[in-house]
Amino acid sequence: MGMNEAICVCRCEEVTEEEVREMVRAGITSVDGIKRATRAGMGLCQSKTCYTNIARIIHEETGTPLAEIEPMRIRIPVRPLKI
Ligand code: FES
Repeated sequence: MGMNEAICVCRCEEVTEEEVREMVRAGITSVDGIKRATRAGMGLCQSKTCYTNIARIIHEETGTPLAEIEPMRIRIPVRPLKI
């Protein structure tokens, strides 16, 4: 932490923390919305690191509990196991 002056939420798309904060203040309060608006999460890590950053910013700006902030749409294969 603290490597750059502008903290990048998503390094591959060069989205800064400040940009995300502004969007949250403007009313985009879902991780998915931020992703669509900024392209954060569309780069190399496929949201693994930036999801946490974006969720934290939304949490800080809105006070929404982290557990209630909807995750980015990552499809997790759910397969019932046959025994
Ligand atoms: S840091 Fe860029 S897609 Fe996650």
